[in-house]
Amino acid sequence: MNIDFLSKDIQEHIAQVRAHIDGSFARYFVITLGCQQNEADSERIRGMAAAMGYQPAERAEEASLIVVNTCAVREHAELKALSLLGRFKHVKAAVPETVIALCGCMAAEPGTVRTIKEKFPYVSFALEPNMLHRFPELVHRALTERRRTFLLGEDMGDIAEGIPPVRSTSHRAWVSIMYGCNNFCSYCIVPYVRGRERSRDAARIMDECRELIADGCREITLLGQNVNSYRSELTFAQLLEQIARLDGEFRLRFMTSHPKDVSEELIAVMARYPDKIAPAFHLPLQSGSDRILKEMNRTYTRERYLSIVEALRRAIPDIAITTDIIVGFPGESDEDFEDTYRTVEAVGYDSLFSFIYSPREGTKAAKLAQTTDEATIKVRMERLIALAQRSSYEKNQAYVGRRVRVLCDGPAREGEEAYIGRTDSGKLVRFQSAGDPTGCFVSVTIDKATPFDLFGVADDT
Ligand code: SAH
Ligand code: SF4
Ligand code: F3S
Repeated sequence: MNIDFLSKDIQEHIAQVRAHIDGSFARYFVITLGCQQNEADSERIRGMAAAMGYQPAERAEEASLIVVNTCAVREHAELKALSLLGRFKHVKAAVPETVIALCGCMAAEPGTVRTIKEKFPYVSFALEPNMLHRFPELVHRALTERRRTFLLGEDMGDIAEGIPPVRSTSHRAWVSIMYGCNNFCSYCIVPYVRGRERSRDAARIMDECRELIADGCREITLLGQNVNSYRSELTFAQLLEQIARLDGEFRLRFMTSHPKDVSEELIAVMARYPDKIAPAFHLPLQSGSDRILKEMNRTYTRERYLSIVEALRRAIPDIAITTDIIVGFPGESDEDFEDTYRTVEAVGYDSLFSFIYSPREGTKAAKLAQTTDEATIKVRMERLIALAQRSSYEKNQAYVGRRVRVLCDGPAREGEEAYIGRTDSGKLVRFQSAGDPTGCFVSVTIDKATPFDLFGVADDT
């Protein structure tokens, strides 16, 4: 584990923890909730744990360092995190030296941190995402001082470079290129818990990508809450083009994009590098009603959104477009929902993620009264899901008979000859193969489609 690029004081804390646990068989366990940004952060938490001398544990009960990396985007995610933490009470009771940490977006909410302080005395520390690099220091404190630490709202600014990730696969990797969000969509907690937008230096990103490709990585996903508002000396489109120009057999993805930042330049770059940049675009619509979009502070209209979709399809005919929709935003009328329904119908998504609106304390929308009853929201949700499934099925059917490139993630089940992987457009494929193509690109002929998966046979069979 190379920690040479970390600051001296972080290295010192790492060395001190290493010395402290020396000789004992220390293990770590990290649970990740939420989005890809959290997945990427968990890889860095694992990297720091490994640098401190911890080994990975198979189960939380076997670990002496347990981390819950949380999400605050909806109430459901928060309740899940609290119930997980509750499960670890007996672990701490059985082995009092166990360090239990709350990381992720909930750790940046003052109300949650208060609850943890008062009701979860066995949680050793809470550390918000912007201060992830202080993880070794807090583990060190928990081990030596037996004092609980709650780090909140301090240095929001810098990006801590040089934390070595422990990645779960070698053929796919997340690369965070920017952090935070400035958009303040009225329903969303993310800008409050992740802070303002900060972009990494392009040179650092290029180095990381070069290294990954040299190590045999076949898929790089560039990450950011608003990935396409990336700004350094390069625009997002320029950065994407530079990475696409690197030699090697790999494909590039990125997420999540805001419609307001989809430039003509970005679409042109995607069209120019069809072998390198995946023909896939996650473009959250949230609502198809201009009135609700305005209330949400999304800054685009339905018409503008549709024109982006049209431009993408004109430039990249095969592109798979996916989206997020919020159902039941305060004041959403039948008419507003019909606008959403019609927009979803007009676009014809490859896949759609729908969420019931969940009020988040501290956001602007949390002050708005909910005028729609639960039963109505449920019916809207069901109609939307049925529509989305029909659309996915139609899109997937179009693949039957085609031969497509698939990056294989591994056997569908242990010992079976069925494998799973994803097409360039991001579709899940279950396929037969004579050899084991895990981690490689294979050509698969698709012979069946459902709304969720494609099925096929690899060329080597
Ligand atoms: N930065 C990304 C992801 C934000 S969170 C983006 O802008 O798209 C992922 C999705 O969660 C959002 O797209 C939105 O559909 C949903 N979401 C965010 N806040 C929510 C809330 N309060 N209630 C329900 N869904 C929410
Ligand atoms: Fe939340 Fe909007 Fe920012 Fe996405 S763009 S993270 S939905 S505030
Ligand atoms: Fe959740 Fe934080 Fe991601 S709130 S969606 S884990 S940025």
